[in-house]
Amino acid sequence: MSNAFVRFRPGRETRDIRMSRRETSFSMSDCIWPVFVVDGTSRCEAIGSMENVNRISPDVLVSTLIPLVKAGLSSVLLFGVPEKKGIEEALRPDSPVHQAIAYIRNSFPSLEIICDVCICSFTLDGHCHIGDNDATCEILARIACSYAHAGAHTIAPSAMMDGQVKYIRKALDREGFKRTSIMSYAAKFASYFYGPFRDAADCAPKFGNRRGYQMDCANPREALAEIEADLIEGAASIIIKPALAYLDIIQRARQRHEIPLVAYNVSGEYRMLLDSIRAGYAHKQIIQETLFGLKRAGADRIITYFVPYLAQEGFEYED
Ligand code: PBG
Repeated sequence: MSNAFVRFRPGRETRDIRMSRRETSFSMSDCIWPVFVVDGTSRCEAIGSMENVNRISPDVLVSTLIPLVKAGLSSVLLFGVPEKKGIEEALRPDSPVHQAIAYIRNSFPSLEIICDVCICSFTLDGHCHIGDNDATCEILARIACSYAHAGAHTIAPSAMMDGQVKYIRKALDREGFKRTSIMSYAAKFASYFYGPFRDAADCAPKFGNRRGYQMDCANPREALAEIEADLIEGAASIIIKPALAYLDIIQRARQRHEIPLVAYNVSGEYRMLLDSIRAGYAHKQIIQETLFGLKRAGADRIITYFVPYLAQEGFEYED
């Protein structure tokens, strides 16, 4: 053999050279910002479990969005946190989510409005269903139509009921919302990484757990079947959630389907990274490094609470 070997290091010599050789891109237009909206005006309440994440009223949402939209944000994901429990709270035409949709439509006509559709913040027991699977789907479909009527572009059902995408697609079509698309949480695992979110959205189950409807973490083939089913039922794009512990699912879904793929960098992952930075044993760029990992695995877009942070800090992963 000759004594030749490959010289990789010249491609790493300067920042510009490194940038020119990047194989994966990651920018603000890849991000979806999840927000918790509450009733009223001028409200901005800290969430104990999630540093720098607040429950905000629709007017505060608009002012918070100004610099983010300027930084290139293209989509928001809305979660409503009601004052009192009851499914009818989700359907009220003046619910926090309905109001937020109107505010955003008015101030940022081009921004994509995605609405999470689930009932765990509204049920008394904190579960994502009312007992019967199909009856729950009917309710999810009604909520989806009322968000579409208010002006949502995209519906993101997260209850993990069988057939929920089919029920919602049918209802949207029937009510004339043919152009409202569905971004389904197709592979949503029963996960301890949702802990901080349940505090934020006040949706922790009062008894038991969600293992009867969310997926078992040991089942990659079933995750692919869930994705397949949602695509057949009419989902235009799909979410894999959580992201970090499920990179194999992201990669396999990417290889199998030519569809827009979204990874949800969930609350526990957010918290884990912030806690390691706070504890002083990790540089803050573990955030960019982690999100690059999700892109590399095959996610087109990432739902992340780090959007305001990224708007300030940038995406480079360079000191
Ligand atoms: C509601 C819902 C949850 C999350 C998104 N939608 C919580 C759950 O299923 O218990 C979690 C998001 C996060 O942790 O950031 N069904």
